[in-house]
Amino acid sequence: MSESSPPNIQALLDEQRTFPPSEQFTRTANVRDRAVYDEAAADPEAFWKAQAEQLEWIEPFHTVLEWNPPHAKWFVGGKLNAAVNCVDRHVRNGRRNKAAIVWEGEPGDRRTLTYFDLQREVNLAANVLKSLGVKRGDRVAMYMPLIPELAIAMLACARIGAIHSVVFGGFSAEALADRINDSQCTLLVTADGGYRRGSLLPLKQIADEALKHTPSIKNVLIVKRDSSDRFPVHVTEGRDHWYHRIVQDVQAWCEPESMDSEDMLYILYTSGTTGKPKGIVHTTGGYLTGTMATTRAVFDLKDDDVYWCTADIGWVTGHSYVVYGPLAAGATLLMYEGAPDWPERDRFWSLIERHGVTIFYTAPTAIRAFMRWGTELPQKHDLSSIRLLGSVGEPINPEAWMWYHEFIGGQRCPIVDTWWQTETGQIMITPLPGLTTTKPGSATHPFPGISVQIRNERGEPVTEGGGLLTISRPWPAMLRGIYGDPERYAATYWSKWKDNAYFAGDGARVDADGCIWLLGRVDDVLNVSGHRIGTMEVESALVDHPAVAEAAVVGRSHDIKGQSITAFVTLKDGQRPSTGLEHELRGHVVKKIGALARPEEIHFAADLPKTRSGKIMRRLLRDIAEGKAIGDTTTLADPNVVARLKSQYENQE
Ligand code: WT7
Repeated sequence: MSESSPPNIQALLDEQRTFPPSEQFTRTANVRDRAVYDEAAADPEAFWKAQAEQLEWIEPFHTVLEWNPPHAKWFVGGKLNAAVNCVDRHVRNGRRNKAAIVWEGEPGDRRTLTYFDLQREVNLAANVLKSLGVKRGDRVAMYMPLIPELAIAMLACARIGAIHSVVFGGFSAEALADRINDSQCTLLVTADGGYRRGSLLPLKQIADEALKHTPSIKNVLIVKRDSSDRFPVHVTEGRDHWYHRIVQDVQAWCEPESMDSEDMLYILYTSGTTGKPKGIVHTTGGYLTGTMATTRAVFDLKDDDVYWCTADIGWVTGHSYVVYGPLAAGATLLMYEGAPDWPERDRFWSLIERHGVTIFYTAPTAIRAFMRWGTELPQKHDLSSIRLLGSVGEPINPEAWMWYHEFIGGQRCPIVDTWWQTETGQIMITPLPGLTTTKPGSATHPFPGISVQIRNERGEPVTEGGGLLTISRPWPAMLRGIYGDPERYAATYWSKWKDNAYFAGDGARVDADGCIWLLGRVDDVLNVSGHRIGTMEVESALVDHPAVAEAAVVGRSHDIKGQSITAFVTLKDGQRPSTGLEHELRGHVVKKIGALARPEEIHFAADLPKTRSGKIMRRLLRDIAEGKAIGDTTTLADPNVVARLKSQYENQE
């Protein structure tokens, strides 16, 4: 069933250990009454209505849900402002001097913004955007390091009703330009650079390359991150503006826009099964409801917690669980700009100790790297402030789960393994820490009010065993579309079966206790270090190189990254394989997409295995890459191709 198998599937299937919540944790947990599951299942709309009522509405909604499949509207008729909900209302309601963002730069510089500080900054930034002509409904691109100004710029957009489109700072100039052009952004917010492993990544310089091909951009804001002036920044007169200068000229207060619950809040691009990334659209009322409710329930967030989600804001985890969820819930959050191994491999543990982090949310790929680096590093630090651990991004193998439990959680902290996606906006399958008995490697149960079904190919529900993960009812933070492509939206997510169930693209198994075990993607999407990369995207980048005739990209199990990228490439007539060319092709992919898509292995092949209708059989290539027995080859046009490839591959290994 599963096209791509994450590591240690067998270990997942054999896992028997269980971890009930401690009485002590349950006693004070935000959610400690099991009845919430049944009540929410009996009337999901009533459940979500109660959650939405914890936001501050300018005008109340009159209808909880309008569902015209595949289009949902949540909290219809309601008006609100996301920035007011994340900032202003906390200033008014007793959190004025509470730290909102505690930030540490990679070089060790520190800043703390209280909710009051954040309010001032967001207002100023909103007025800066307005002074440059940004209006309600305009799209604003962001290409930023992990600094408070990124969250401030997002909230400033929300305040004036502009739509942000954050592009992760690791993407290339071409990838940035494509995303800007797809949604016709009129302004770009960037920075001189951001620190990563001791050096400054020159974001503005990279953006300048992109800006040669983005006619819709009228203005560029440059945030000054580096005070040393070691990195020259080219300022194009009339288009580029230093943020710290232009902010001097604006007023301190900006009246928030009254937004419709269904007004667009942001676009975030993610990979799919074609070469072109999808601009996932999220709206306001449902998204804030879903992210705030899950932040409180899943992370058991209390007012005195110091919450740290290590994700970059450029990914959805950063949108939902660095910015919107935690701020809507009034949290104190830690933000750290740089790498986990800078200057030493204990940077995360040092951060936790020095900032007294109580809730820590990270990815399995990071946990596996920590395991490899050894237990001495966390043991050098006092991690006793931690009371809850989270995991997200890919299936967590039981071994990593146990290590996390023992060496980071000191055997006392619940672990919430949270399954969700860019498209779902909010956590969908997760333990509730005061209620759920966890099993290492299982995301356990759907969040209250979420209807998950495992189905077979025919669409029949599977009550025990493996199948495809589907969501059978709409949920508040669900995507509302793919920007500019309504057909692709309907076709990708809602058309696998006739009954309007959402198809997630993941394989999953339910066990006898009803616990859900995620098994990885079933489509041509890879998960490399918790980041989604489409095989087609990498293939398009490879065939874009003049020497390449055809390319097929598959994922191979990788101890730390989960999956790594293996490419099989055929060359045009007259081209010869060489290590030089291999190097050049890697560089070409990095230039087209970004370093995150760099193929770990490139194999030159005389032919690729194809069906008689000409479709490349990636399944067989994956078997070759993983050194497995080759599956069924009867549909191949030329079965010899596979045998040749396999022996060639084995000789190279
Ligand atoms: C894909 C979504 C949602 C945040 C980060 C990734 C995989 C995510 C888990 C988990 C097993 C997981 C799925 C999903 N995934 N979390 N806890 N267990 N798999 O967001 O880039 O949209 O990727 O990540 O395959 O479909 P994304």
